[in-house]
Amino acid sequence: MQTAVFYFSGTGNTWWCAQKLRELFHAAGRDCTTVSIEQIDGEDVRQLVQDSDTIGIGYPIYGSDLPETMKKFIESLFPEQKGDSKKLFVFCTQLLFSGDGAFVYRKELARKGWDIYWSAHFRMPNNICVTEMPFPYTTDRKKIDRRLRKTARKIEVFSQAVLSEQAVITGASKCSHSLGLLQRGPYRRMFPKLRNDITIDANLCTRCGRCVAICPSGNLYEDGDGIHTRGICILCVRCYNYCPVQAVLYMGKRHKARRGVPYRGPVPEYKPELTARKS
Ligand SMILES: Cc1cc2nc3c(=O)[nH]c(=O)nc-3n(C[C@H](O)[C@H](O)[C@H](O)COP(=O)(O)O)c2cc1C
Repeated sequence: MQTAVFYFSGTGNTWWCAQKLRELFHAAGRDCTTVSIEQIDGEDVRQLVQDSDTIGIGYPIYGSDLPETMKKFIESLFPEQKGDSKKLFVFCTQLLFSGDGAFVYRKELARKGWDIYWSAHFRMPNNICVTEMPFPYTTDRKKIDRRLRKTARKIEVFSQAVLSEQAVITGASKCSHSLGLLQRGPYRRMFPKLRNDITIDANLCTRCGRCVAICPSGNLYEDGDGIHTRGICILCVRCYNYCPVQAVLYMGKRHKARRGVPYRGPVPEYKPELTARKS
Protein backbone atom coordinates (compact mmCIF):
# COMPACT_ATOMS: atom_id res chain seq x y z
CA MET A 1 0.00 0.00 0.00
CA GLN A 2 1.31 3.42 -0.92
CA THR A 3 0.00 6.81 0.22
CA ALA A 4 0.91 10.20 -1.20
CA VAL A 5 0.09 13.38 0.71
CA PHE A 6 0.15 16.72 -1.11
CA TYR A 7 0.11 19.70 1.21
CA PHE A 8 0.52 23.42 1.34
CA SER A 9 1.83 24.97 4.56
CA GLY A 10 2.46 28.68 5.08
CA THR A 11 4.10 28.53 8.50
CA GLY A 12 4.64 24.85 9.30
CA ASN A 13 1.43 23.66 10.96
CA THR A 14 0.14 21.69 7.99
CA TRP A 15 3.66 20.42 7.27
CA TRP A 16 3.80 19.12 10.86
CA CYS A 17 0.45 17.31 10.54
CA ALA A 18 1.54 15.75 7.24
CA GLN A 19 4.78 14.52 8.86
CA LYS A 20 2.82 13.05 11.76
CA LEU A 21 0.58 11.17 9.36
CA ARG A 22 3.58 9.85 7.48
CA GLU A 23 5.22 8.62 10.70
CA LEU A 24 2.03 6.84 11.73
CA PHE A 25 1.58 5.21 8.32
CA HIS A 26 5.21 4.10 8.30
CA ALA A 27 4.86 2.67 11.80
CA ALA A 28 1.91 0.63 10.51
CA GLY A 29 4.00 -0.67 7.61
CA ARG A 30 2.47 1.52 4.89
CA ASP A 31 4.66 3.55 2.52
CA CYS A 32 3.85 7.24 2.61
CA THR A 33 5.33 10.16 0.70
CA THR A 34 4.54 13.71 1.78
CA VAL A 35 5.26 16.53 -0.62
CA SER A 36 4.85 20.29 -0.50
CA ILE A 37 2.89 21.43 -3.56
CA GLU A 38 5.41 24.25 -3.93
CA GLN A 39 8.13 21.70 -4.68
CA ILE A 40 6.53 19.44 -7.25
CA ASP A 41 5.58 19.77 -10.91
CA GLY A 42 2.62 18.35 -12.79
CA GLU A 43 4.42 15.30 -14.18
CA ASP A 44 5.65 14.22 -10.74
CA VAL A 45 2.19 14.75 -9.25
CA ARG A 46 0.68 12.46 -11.91
CA GLN A 47 3.36 9.83 -11.32
CA LEU A 48 2.94 9.90 -7.55
CA VAL A 49 -0.85 9.63 -7.82
CA GLN A 50 -0.49 6.78 -10.30
CA ASP A 51 1.86 4.88 -7.95
CA SER A 52 -0.38 5.34 -4.88
CA ASP A 53 -3.64 3.81 -3.84
CA THR A 54 -4.52 6.40 -1.18
CA ILE A 55 -4.06 10.12 -1.74
CA GLY A 56 -4.10 12.88 0.87
CA ILE A 57 -4.51 16.63 0.48
CA GLY A 58 -3.76 19.05 3.35
CA TYR A 59 -3.91 22.82 3.70
CA PRO A 60 -4.37 25.63 6.26
CA ILE A 61 -7.77 27.29 6.43
CA TYR A 62 -8.02 30.96 5.52
CA GLY A 63 -11.44 32.42 6.34
CA SER A 64 -13.05 28.96 5.92
CA ASP A 65 -11.49 28.83 2.45
CA LEU A 66 -8.55 27.11 0.76
CA PRO A 67 -5.29 28.97 0.08
CA GLU A 68 -5.15 30.11 -3.56
CA THR A 69 -2.11 27.89 -4.15
CA MET A 70 -4.09 24.80 -3.15
CA LYS A 71 -7.04 25.81 -5.33
CA LYS A 72 -4.69 26.13 -8.30
CA PHE A 73 -3.04 22.82 -7.49
CA ILE A 74 -6.37 20.98 -7.40
CA GLU A 75 -7.67 22.71 -10.51
CA SER A 76 -4.61 22.37 -12.71
CA LEU A 77 -2.08 19.85 -11.39
CA PHE A 78 -4.14 17.24 -9.58
CA PRO A 79 -5.00 14.51 -12.12
CA GLU A 80 -8.41 13.09 -12.91
CA GLN A 81 -9.31 9.71 -11.50
CA LYS A 82 -10.44 7.58 -14.42
CA GLY A 83 -12.12 4.42 -13.26
CA ASP A 84 -9.43 3.77 -10.65
CA SER A 85 -10.30 2.82 -7.13
CA LYS A 86 -7.94 5.23 -5.42
CA LYS A 87 -9.22 6.78 -2.23
CA LEU A 88 -8.83 10.37 -1.12
CA PHE A 89 -8.55 12.02 2.28
CA VAL A 90 -8.53 15.76 2.91
CA PHE A 91 -7.43 17.52 6.06
CA CYS A 92 -7.18 21.16 6.97
CA THR A 93 -5.42 22.84 9.85
CA GLN A 94 -7.05 25.67 11.70
CA LEU A 95 -6.80 27.74 14.82
CA LEU A 96 -10.36 27.14 15.91
CA PHE A 97 -13.06 26.77 13.34
CA SER A 98 -13.75 26.42 9.63
CA GLY A 99 -17.20 24.82 9.39
CA ASP A 100 -16.71 22.78 6.22
CA GLY A 101 -12.97 23.43 5.78
CA ALA A 102 -12.05 19.99 4.42
CA PHE A 103 -15.05 20.01 2.08
CA VAL A 104 -14.81 23.41 0.44
CA TYR A 105 -13.42 21.95 -2.79
CA ARG A 106 -15.56 18.81 -2.81
CA LYS A 107 -17.30 19.75 -6.08
CA GLU A 108 -14.05 20.59 -7.86
CA LEU A 109 -12.60 17.25 -6.72
CA ALA A 110 -15.78 15.39 -7.71
CA ARG A 111 -15.57 16.94 -11.19
CA LYS A 112 -12.20 15.20 -11.49
CA GLY A 113 -13.67 11.91 -10.35
CA TRP A 114 -12.58 12.06 -6.71
CA ASP A 115 -14.81 11.42 -3.70
CA ILE A 116 -13.62 12.34 -0.23
CA TYR A 117 -13.50 9.15 1.90
CA TRP A 118 -11.95 10.69 4.99
CA SER A 119 -11.77 14.29 6.16
CA ALA A 120 -10.45 15.97 9.29
CA HIS A 121 -9.98 19.41 10.81
CA PHE A 122 -6.86 19.58 12.95
CA ARG A 123 -6.55 22.40 15.46
CA MET A 124 -3.11 23.99 15.48
CA PRO A 125 -1.60 27.19 16.93
CA ASN A 126 -2.71 30.47 15.43
CA ASN A 127 -0.30 31.90 12.87
CA ILE A 128 -1.99 35.30 12.32
CA CYS A 129 0.13 37.83 14.18
CA VAL A 130 -0.56 40.99 12.18
CA THR A 131 -1.01 44.14 14.23
CA GLU A 132 -4.16 45.15 12.36
CA MET A 133 -5.98 41.93 13.39
CA PRO A 134 -4.70 41.31 16.90
CA PHE A 135 -5.84 37.69 17.37
CA PRO A 136 -4.08 36.12 20.32
CA TYR A 137 -1.16 33.92 19.37
CA THR A 138 1.58 32.24 21.30
CA THR A 139 5.23 31.38 20.89
CA ASP A 140 5.31 29.79 24.34
CA ARG A 141 6.86 26.34 23.84
CA LYS A 142 4.80 24.73 26.60
CA LYS A 143 1.49 26.00 25.22
CA ILE A 144 2.41 25.01 21.68
CA ASP A 145 3.50 21.53 22.83
CA ARG A 146 0.22 21.06 24.69
CA ARG A 147 -1.72 21.85 21.51
CA LEU A 148 0.54 19.57 19.45
CA ARG A 149 -0.01 16.67 21.86
CA LYS A 150 -3.80 17.01 21.57
CA THR A 151 -3.67 17.26 17.80
CA ALA A 152 -1.24 14.34 17.57
CA ARG A 153 -3.84 12.15 19.30
CA LYS A 154 -6.48 13.26 16.82
CA ILE A 155 -4.13 12.55 13.92
CA GLU A 156 -3.49 9.09 15.30
CA VAL A 157 -7.21 8.29 15.41
CA PHE A 158 -7.57 9.65 11.89
CA SER A 159 -4.65 7.57 10.59
CA GLN A 160 -6.20 4.44 12.10
CA ALA A 161 -9.44 5.17 10.25
CA VAL A 162 -7.53 5.50 6.98
CA LEU A 163 -5.50 2.34 7.63
CA SER A 164 -8.57 0.32 8.51
CA GLU A 165 -10.53 1.77 5.55
CA GLN A 166 -13.26 3.05 7.83
CA ALA A 167 -14.75 6.24 6.44
CA VAL A 168 -14.51 9.21 8.80
CA ILE A 169 -15.96 12.51 7.65
CA THR A 170 -15.80 15.96 9.25
CA GLY A 171 -17.29 19.12 7.76
CA ALA A 172 -19.75 17.55 5.32
CA SER A 173 -23.06 18.37 7.02
CA LYS A 174 -25.41 21.14 5.91
CA CYS A 175 -24.81 22.87 9.23
CA SER A 176 -21.00 22.80 8.73
CA HIS A 177 -21.47 24.13 5.20
CA SER A 178 -23.70 27.01 6.38
CA LEU A 179 -21.26 27.94 9.14
CA GLY A 180 -18.35 27.77 6.70
CA LEU A 181 -20.24 30.04 4.29
CA LEU A 182 -20.79 32.62 7.01
CA GLN A 183 -17.02 33.11 7.15
CA ARG A 184 -16.13 32.32 3.55
CA GLY A 185 -18.62 34.76 1.99
CA PRO A 186 -17.18 37.92 3.57
CA TYR A 187 -13.64 36.54 3.28
CA ARG A 188 -13.97 35.98 -0.48
CA ARG A 189 -15.46 39.44 -0.94
CA MET A 190 -12.61 41.07 0.98
CA PHE A 191 -9.85 38.88 -0.48
CA PRO A 192 -8.98 41.12 -3.51
CA LYS A 193 -8.30 43.98 -1.12
CA LEU A 194 -6.65 41.90 1.63
CA ARG A 195 -4.16 40.41 -0.82
CA ASN A 196 -2.96 43.89 -1.73
CA ASP A 197 -2.21 44.95 1.81
CA ILE A 198 1.35 43.69 2.24
CA THR A 199 4.09 46.32 1.88
CA ILE A 200 7.76 46.51 2.79
CA ASP A 201 9.13 49.35 4.89
CA ALA A 202 12.18 50.41 2.88
CA ASN A 203 13.71 52.12 5.91
CA LEU A 204 13.71 48.92 7.95
CA CYS A 205 14.38 46.39 5.18
CA THR A 206 17.96 45.08 5.01
CA ARG A 207 17.37 43.54 1.54
CA CYS A 208 18.31 40.07 2.82
CA GLY A 209 15.89 38.66 0.21
CA ARG A 210 14.39 35.98 2.43
CA CYS A 211 10.80 37.18 1.95
CA VAL A 212 11.23 37.03 -1.83
CA ALA A 213 12.75 33.54 -1.62
CA ILE A 214 10.02 32.06 0.57
CA CYS A 215 6.94 33.74 -0.93
CA PRO A 216 4.76 30.93 -2.35
CA SER A 217 2.92 33.07 -4.89
CA GLY A 218 5.72 35.16 -6.41
CA ASN A 219 4.07 38.24 -4.91
CA LEU A 220 7.35 39.75 -3.74
CA TYR A 221 10.19 40.79 -6.02
CA GLU A 222 13.33 42.84 -5.69
CA ASP A 223 14.68 45.49 -8.04
CA GLY A 224 17.24 48.29 -7.73
CA ASP A 225 14.86 50.30 -5.54
CA GLY A 226 14.02 47.62 -3.01
CA ILE A 227 11.40 44.93 -2.47
CA HIS A 228 7.94 45.37 -3.96
CA THR A 229 4.66 43.49 -4.20
CA ARG A 230 2.62 42.44 -7.21
CA GLY A 231 -0.75 42.30 -5.43
CA ILE A 232 -1.00 38.51 -5.70
CA CYS A 233 -0.44 37.69 -2.02
CA ILE A 234 -2.25 34.56 -0.80
CA LEU A 235 -2.18 35.69 2.86
CA CYS A 236 -0.01 32.83 4.13
CA VAL A 237 1.79 35.38 6.43
CA ARG A 238 5.14 33.69 5.85
CA CYS A 239 6.95 36.92 4.88
CA TYR A 240 5.38 38.81 7.80
CA ASN A 241 6.20 36.14 10.38
CA TYR A 242 9.70 35.30 9.16
CA CYS A 243 11.15 38.72 8.28
CA PRO A 244 14.17 38.93 10.62
CA VAL A 245 13.69 42.68 11.19
CA GLN A 246 9.89 42.86 10.91
CA ALA A 247 10.06 45.16 7.90
CA VAL A 248 6.95 43.57 6.35
CA LEU A 249 3.88 45.67 7.05
CA TYR A 250 0.27 44.60 6.89
CA MET A 251 -2.23 47.38 6.18
CA GLY A 252 0.67 49.77 6.66
CA LYS A 253 1.32 48.58 10.22
CA ARG A 254 4.51 47.07 11.54
CA HIS A 255 4.50 44.12 13.93
CA LYS A 256 4.17 45.44 17.48
CA ALA A 257 7.38 44.63 19.38
CA ARG A 258 5.47 44.20 22.64
CA ARG A 259 3.64 41.17 21.19
CA GLY A 260 7.00 39.36 20.93
CA VAL A 261 8.29 37.62 17.82
CA PRO A 262 5.61 36.43 15.39
CA TYR A 263 4.61 32.76 15.26
CA ARG A 264 7.38 30.79 13.56
CA GLY A 265 6.12 27.25 13.27
CA PRO A 266 5.09 24.44 15.58
CA VAL A 267 8.60 23.09 16.24
CA PRO A 268 11.98 24.85 16.37
CA GLU A 269 13.34 22.81 13.45
CA TYR A 270 10.67 24.10 11.05
CA LYS A 271 11.92 26.63 8.52
CA PRO A 272 9.81 27.81 5.58
CA GLU A 273 12.63 26.83 3.23
CA LEU A 274 11.69 23.18 4.00
CA THR A 275 8.42 23.58 2.11
CA ALA A 276 8.98 26.60 -0.16
CA ARG A 277 9.74 26.29 -3.87
CA LYS A 278 13.42 25.70 -4.60
CA SER A 279 15.01 28.70 -6.29
C1 LIG B 1 -5.31 34.68 6.36
C2 LIG B 1 -5.60 33.64 7.41
C3 LIG B 1 -6.91 33.28 7.68
C4 LIG B 1 -7.19 32.31 8.66
N1 LIG B 1 -8.48 31.93 8.87
C5 LIG B 1 -8.77 31.01 9.80
C6 LIG B 1 -10.12 30.58 10.01
O1 LIG B 1 -11.04 30.99 9.29
N2 LIG B 1 -10.35 29.69 10.99
C7 LIG B 1 -9.36 29.18 11.78
O2 LIG B 1 -9.66 28.41 12.69
N3 LIG B 1 -8.06 29.51 11.57
C8 LIG B 1 -7.75 30.43 10.61
N4 LIG B 1 -6.44 30.78 10.39
C9 LIG B 1 -5.37 30.12 11.15
C10 LIG B 1 -4.65 29.05 10.32
O3 LIG B 1 -5.55 28.30 9.54
C11 LIG B 1 -3.86 28.06 11.20
O4 LIG B 1 -3.01 28.70 12.08
C12 LIG B 1 -3.11 27.06 10.31
O5 LIG B 1 -2.81 25.92 11.08
C13 LIG B 1 -1.83 27.59 9.69
O6 LIG B 1 -1.23 26.54 8.98
P1 LIG B 1 0.21 26.63 8.30
O7 LIG B 1 1.21 26.89 9.41
O8 LIG B 1 0.41 25.27 7.68
O9 LIG B 1 0.20 27.73 7.30
C14 LIG B 1 -6.13 31.71 9.40
C15 LIG B 1 -4.81 32.08 9.10
C16 LIG B 1 -4.53 33.03 8.12
C17 LIG B 1 -3.10 33.39 7.83
